[in-house]
Amino acid sequence: MLYKFARAFLFARDPEWAHDFTIHRFSQLRDSCLLSLLRQNLPAKPVTVMGIEFPNPVGLAAGLDKNGECINVWDALGFGFVEIGTITPRAQPGNDSPRIFRLVEHHALINRMGFNNKGVDHLVDEVKKSNFKGVLGINIGKNKDTPVEQGKDDYLICMDKVYPHASYIAVNISSPNTPGLRSLQYGEALDELLAALKLRQSELAKIHGKYVPLAVKIAPDLDDEELAQVATSLINHNIDGVIATNTTLERSAVAGHKHADEAGGLSGRPVAQSSTQIISKLSALLKGEIPIIGVGGIDSAEAAQDKINAGASLVQLYTGFIYEGPPLIKDIVNRLKL
Ligand SMILES: Cc1cc2nc3c(=O)[nH]c(=O)nc-3n(C[C@H](O)[C@H](O)[C@H](O)COP(=O)(O)O)c2cc1C
Repeated sequence: MLYKFARAFLFARDPEWAHDFTIHRFSQLRDSCLLSLLRQNLPAKPVTVMGIEFPNPVGLAAGLDKNGECINVWDALGFGFVEIGTITPRAQPGNDSPRIFRLVEHHALINRMGFNNKGVDHLVDEVKKSNFKGVLGINIGKNKDTPVEQGKDDYLICMDKVYPHASYIAVNISSPNTPGLRSLQYGEALDELLAALKLRQSELAKIHGKYVPLAVKIAPDLDDEELAQVATSLINHNIDGVIATNTTLERSAVAGHKHADEAGGLSGRPVAQSSTQIISKLSALLKGEIPIIGVGGIDSAEAAQDKINAGASLVQLYTGFIYEGPPLIKDIVNRLKL
């Protein structure tokens, strides 16, 4: 009920304004006793994935809290884990506005934010301030002005800084809004990146005395051959998890909509099926060797169950959460069968 009013208020406004307003209000709430007003007490549904015990399998997807400014609020709302970022070594403004569009009839969004963020040092400060003890994923990327051939260095800079603070690190090589980024999903570029990240992971594990799993986030737009190659690389490099999927460049499901031709990634209901198909195919290719975190168009317990049935061990929400609000978390946690 409460979310219905909030949504009516927020959806009457520009999408990025609504986002910034919410993040700002939530960041004010995070240390306040008012936080208890937002708290949803959900049943425990523990699940162990990548060696981490998650209190429930429903997480916040990357991109909603890029700077990690509201971690305790997501926790209070009942998410079993929170993925913050994508963060880059240096702060950057992202693309010009407008850069996010609602396609309400399709329960979808198109965004071309372009990794607008305050830089990795700011994020680490926010994480320290939060004193959060739950499962925290930190999603890392490269700055727009770093040439893609040197992209690896940006991931390593972020990894060094976030490693002691993360439960797992998500490696984003699938955003469509940073030129050249998706080229890191293929062939030698992927192998070189994964080898460097794994080497650094073993060094950091010794320094910090803890092993932080690495999960790679992929696009839904990979064809079968590309997906098979990605799966082989993930296995060869002993990657700990895979997050499937990011937003899509495909527009057929929203053809004719006034925003359909906006550049960027489409998310929400229209991406649900392609993301589930990628999960099914990946699950067959990986044969249980690497766990899958399923994300893309989850806006009901049934849609979450589809991801689990396709082979995911955990799920994440972004666009569905924007449309349905906190009751969606509760509904999924209550009804999901693992
Ligand atoms: C406005 C917006 C910004 C996003 N930013 C990021 C990001 O910074 N890093 C990332 O890995 N994914 C990002 N995503 C992708 C989501 O995490 C998710 O993978 C994708 O939207 C599909 O899930 P959904 O249909 O539930 O939204 C973003 C999505 C949206 C809608």
